[in-house]
Amino acid sequence: MTNPAPFPHIWTVLKFGGVSVAKPENWTVIAELAKTRLKQDQPGKKIKVLIVHSAIADVSNRLEALPDQALAGDVGDLIADLKQTHLDFAAAAGLDGATLLTKPFATLDHLTAGIALVREASPRIRAELLALGEQMAGMLGLERLKQEGLDPAKLDARDALEAVSYGLDAGSYLSNTVSDGPDPALQDRLSDADLVLTQGFVARNNRGETVLLGRGGSDTSAAYFAAKLNAAKLEIWTDVPGLFSADPRLTPGARLLKALSYEEAQEIATMGGKVLHPRCIGPVRRAGVPVEVRSTLQPGLAGTMITSKPGDDAPQLKAVSVKSGLRLVVMEGAGMWRQVGFLADVFACFKQCDVSVDLVSTSETNVTVSLDPEPGLNQNRLDRLRTVLEPLCRVKIIEDAAAVSLVGYGVRRILHKLAPALEMFQNKPIRLVSQAANDLNFTVVVDGAEGRSLAARLHEELIAPAPSSPVFGPSWAEINHTESTRTQGAKSWWITKRNALLDRAPETGGRYVYDLETVAGRARDVASMISVDRTFFAMKANAHPEVLKTIWTAGLGFECVSPGEIKHLITLFPDLDPGRILFTPNFAARHEYAAALELGVNLTIDGLHPLTEWPEMFKRTELILRINPDRPRGHHQHVQTAGPRAKFGIPLDQLDTARQAAANAGAKVIGLHAHAGSGVVDAAHWREMGAILARAAEDFEDVRLLNVGGGLGVPDSTQASALDLKAVDALLGALKHVPPGYEIWMEPGRYLVAEAGVLLSRVTQIKQAFGTRFIGLGAGMNSLIRPALYGARHEIVNLTRFDHPGVSLVSIVGPICENADILGTDRLMPETEEDDVIAITGAGAYGAVMASRYNLREPADEAVIR
Ligand code: LLP
Repeated sequence: MTNPAPFPHIWTVLKFGGVSVAKPENWTVIAELAKTRLKQDQPGKKIKVLIVHSAIADVSNRLEALPDQALAGDVGDLIADLKQTHLDFAAAAGLDGATLLTKPFATLDHLTAGIALVREASPRIRAELLALGEQMAGMLGLERLKQEGLDPAKLDARDALEAVSYGLDAGSYLSNTVSDGPDPALQDRLSDADLVLTQGFVARNNRGETVLLGRGGSDTSAAYFAAKLNAAKLEIWTDVPGLFSADPRLTPGARLLKALSYEEAQEIATMGGKVLHPRCIGPVRRAGVPVEVRSTLQPGLAGTMITSKPGDDAPQLKAVSVKSGLRLVVMEGAGMWRQVGFLADVFACFKQCDVSVDLVSTSETNVTVSLDPEPGLNQNRLDRLRTVLEPLCRVKIIEDAAAVSLVGYGVRRILHKLAPALEMFQNKPIRLVSQAANDLNFTVVVDGAEGRSLAARLHEELIAPAPSSPVFGPSWAEINHTESTRTQGAKSWWITKRNALLDRAPETGGRYVYDLETVAGRARDVASMISVDRTFFAMKANAHPEVLKTIWTAGLGFECVSPGEIKHLITLFPDLDPGRILFTPNFAARHEYAAALELGVNLTIDGLHPLTEWPEMFKRTELILRINPDRPRGHHQHVQTAGPRAKFGIPLDQLDTARQAAANAGAKVIGLHAHAGSGVVDAAHWREMGAILARAAEDFEDVRLLNVGGGLGVPDSTQASALDLKAVDALLGALKHVPPGYEIWMEPGRYLVAEAGVLLSRVTQIKQAFGTRFIGLGAGMNSLIRPALYGARHEIVNLTRFDHPGVSLVSIVGPICENADILGTDRLMPETEEDDVIAITGAGAYGAVMASRYNLREPADEAVIR
């Protein structure tokens, strides 16, 4: 639709919900958004901004409860609380709330007293009361905008929005509609103001009385204003970043929908997405005003854009929603087939009983309809419905059904893809199937208990794996990951020492930087475990000299797996007592054992071969035997070092043979060892290892120590659960009481160093291809192979722009000629530029030590900070 009058300006309408206006500081964001838009003037056209706001969060709920409380004669606390909410806001903003809000406070008292007096709360009075919420928020908001240096004109929405129907029933006061054609008179009236502030939710009727647009009506107000002003855009600012492909509270994998058609948005809003009020779509659709839904909490993140186009021309499933608490009315009768007027008769009964029908399905002998949950639909009304229907057919009412809907343009053409997900319904009934005539919605109704799992399954199979595209943005989980990395990351050493890191960032390639303070802290934590007698750092995790010195200073020993590691230690610490080294090789050559025995280090044997084939070597030696505890554990199959597929340790059923072989060789078995895998966060794991070892030790008279291994995991994101070291200590403590009282040894690697290291690298190039955005780094899988090898997750942050909000979903890749050279996929990153410094966190363990010169590219070098 074109602008009917040639006004030399364009309006942008910004709507802010209850959470977005609840605190004084939120109005700084509102002011900033208004300022940026006001600055976007186009040649010959001035941009003007209309702000539509809600009441402060939860105020409308409390105002809604007020009349009934007044009727019950008990409003004292409620009124005082309502006033206090606004006075608190004023105080926090440095405003004189009592003076500013004298008038609405007086109206609040007066209306409530009136209700108590006449013992009646008419819809008209209820509407007046509820409208106070927006009025109070508007008065405070106006002052806050002035404090931010703006000069908004105040428009009372009731002077601009006139209700269409003006009967005098409750509906026309509490849930009204407004005409939404272009309104040149309004445009004219506002022509002098650049910035206007007005309330949502309220309008007036032709008697000049206050009426409301229904709960959630602020969106609708904003849509009316946008249509009337023929706005260039309506921006709905709320507390979530847009519409999602499923309810994110139930489905963390729900994807942000970047583009929707009006019709799709309407379906999603109607099917239970609470972000947008369904009524607000009509006015903007008719006026052709694009709508953008965004979050005031993450203002940098592009949200959902709703226009006449679905974002992608191909038919595409965009959302799965569940509506619970439905009732089904199943009507059966043999005689209904081809019986003229049967359906008309049936539906007349629903009309007669004032019951609204949602979905319908019919067959020769059965008509089933669904009824939406509605508070007023009580047993009496249902009984009445049954009574009037029963002369026509047999009636069964099924309570607690759930409708699972698939929404997306062209849904009929993709139905075949549903088959695998629907397989779970082999033995469970699908009560009703409905495919909407508009080809946007396919719904199955199932028993209430199945609704959520079916929706989750359908989402997981059909939507979650979609690559990022013009339609699908980041998942809810990813947005929260990024958010919590930003908030919790702020406490991490790599943020407090950010400037030092930026100074050390390499120009090319990559650089590992280790924070020795963090290493020392972890070493202290481990060393202070009461139940553990000796701790050996598994130096395969990180062999940097400064890191090793820090751990050495904390008094720990070292677990080595090669002569190279031992030599490295001796070079670093020439006076090292060999007793501080624990050598645990696997399939090593004979001479490595001989050399270790020569040095006098602790030696662990993890197979029969050395004992049976080279017995002479072990004469009069003390040995530790590594068993295979047959409990594979760890973050990935590749790091599970126990169980039938593992090459490590002596299976328990060969332990007798091993004992015999050791005895034959003249060796004394002084300890038993087990290590089941790496990256374990369940504290009970080490108790389990201890128990297995203690049981095995019963057959060894000289065993005095049990080495319960390493494997202590660290969280791979700020949201993942962390290992409780104190719990490990307590659980192992119990083991110490097992007779004869074993010494407990441990050999953690990752735990001491992972979080102490970041891999720094600069952005080389940025590429957009097939809907994926790639950010290239100088460092790749030759520096950090964990993502490629184990699918490991490392939080990745743009250190240069750590404070900037995430705006797009990207894959972070390196320069190596392998498709697997990906350091992270689907990460929400801020606007990023060439040469920005990127930090891959949690990279202090198994990073540099596993690097290679593949492609003859030098891997990242290493540095430390303190
Ligand atoms: N003890 C033994 C016998 C081990 O084999 C290992 C690690 C450890 C202790 C130390 O485990 P930690 O506490 O670090 O989890 N490259 C893989 C990890 C391989 C672990 C090998 N053995 C990764 O990057 O996840």
